[in-house]
Amino acid sequence: MRKAIIGGTGVYDIGEGSYTKVVETKYGNVELDIVNINGEEIAFLARHGKRHSTPPHLINYRGNMKALEQLGIKYIYATAAVGSCNESYSPGDIVVIKNFIDFTKQRPVTFFEGGDEPVKHTDMRDPYCKNLSNKFYEVAKVEGIDVKGDAVYVCTEGPRFETEYEIRMYKSLGGDVVGMTNIPEVILAKELGMCYAAVGIITNWCTGIKGDITIHDIQGTLSANKEKISRAFLRAFAGKLNQEHCRCNNSIIEL
Ligand code: HPA
Repeated sequence: MRKAIIGGTGVYDIGEGSYTKVVETKYGNVELDIVNINGEEIAFLARHGKRHSTPPHLINYRGNMKALEQLGIKYIYATAAVGSCNESYSPGDIVVIKNFIDFTKQRPVTFFEGGDEPVKHTDMRDPYCKNLSNKFYEVAKVEGIDVKGDAVYVCTEGPRFETEYEIRMYKSLGGDVVGMTNIPEVILAKELGMCYAAVGIITNWCTGIKGDITIHDIQGTLSANKEKISRAFLRAFAGKLNQEHCRCNNSIIEL
């Protein structure tokens, strides 16, 4: 199995059947769904757990990504709910995440822990796979999704939202959208040599930008978008994929 979708649920009816699989990893067991799409098995992983019960700072990111690697996954599309601190990107909009700024504080962010292994560093010139990102723009058009543009993602530790002054700082650093989960997911994918692209679903204005954050907005925006985005991911997966035109499988520097 080579392809996976993280975050997006609600497309099970597209496939010809699905089953749940538990993958045992050295970081713990991970439950995911395998869906048969036109004869090919694709893995669906609900990042927060199937009942959305794991908060962002406690997600077993290493377990999740290791489980995908053990299944043979090389290509991943992920969705991320984000707030916007860029006036050009409004709630309900879809953006492609092109880079990140990491403000997480206390989660394990790497598989590279030294010991018997050499010291390894990861090249972050292209944190997100350009190939998969470009493909998303193409398939989004076919699915009628209006992608508003590229976005720099600021990752906070959460689970609290940000203060108005934190948002002013993130904005002044070049951040467009703010979320709590893309770090370390994108980093771990790179460490495992996988192609990883992420699509941001803007659920709210960040604190102090315009109006208040409401839960109603967040849930409404997510359910309105998740199905069409997942369909676009599957359309992108239906085409030919390789790692010849990206650095994703070649970004580990050993010292
Ligand atoms: N901040 C952080 N994470 C988020 C937000 C936000 O405003 N909206 C959705 N996830």
